[in-house]
Amino acid sequence: MTQSPSDLAAAARAVRENAYVPYSHFKVGAALRAPSGAVYVGCNVENVAYPEGTCAEAGAIAAMVAAGETEITEAYVIADSAHPVAPCGGCRQKLMEFARADVRVTLATVDGAEEVVTVADLLPGAFGTKHMDRA
Ligand code: THU
Repeated sequence: MTQSPSDLAAAARAVRENAYVPYSHFKVGAALRAPSGAVYVGCNVENVAYPEGTCAEAGAIAAMVAAGETEITEAYVIADSAHPVAPCGGCRQKLMEFARADVRVTLATVDGAEEVVTVADLLPGAFGTKHMDRA
């Protein structure tokens, strides 16, 4: 399904409601757009073994790849925080795997605050394939 930019926000806001967060009580929603125009969503899913929990961004990326797409053209992350939510370090690397450096990532609060950054802004000096080349 093709959606407009405001629908990316709406999709992230809606999926956030499904977050499973019995430990942190901090619900996060993420929505990604792929080149087809399709929007993929994810929410955080926690676990009693805390490190086994997964972030909203990771869930959305998994949904995108499961649907057969491997490129992010736009991303939106939303949480109920005083300041637009900062993706964790691991999710910054995960986003970079599937997005060009100039892809827009909107960080938002449920109250309507938004901060637009790029994937490169989120992870300066990112590890990439170039670091595995000797030549
Ligand atoms: N969390 C996300 O899902 N995405 C972020 O960008 C930041 C943090 C989740 C992980 C955990 O379930 C909860 O928020 C508190 O860290």
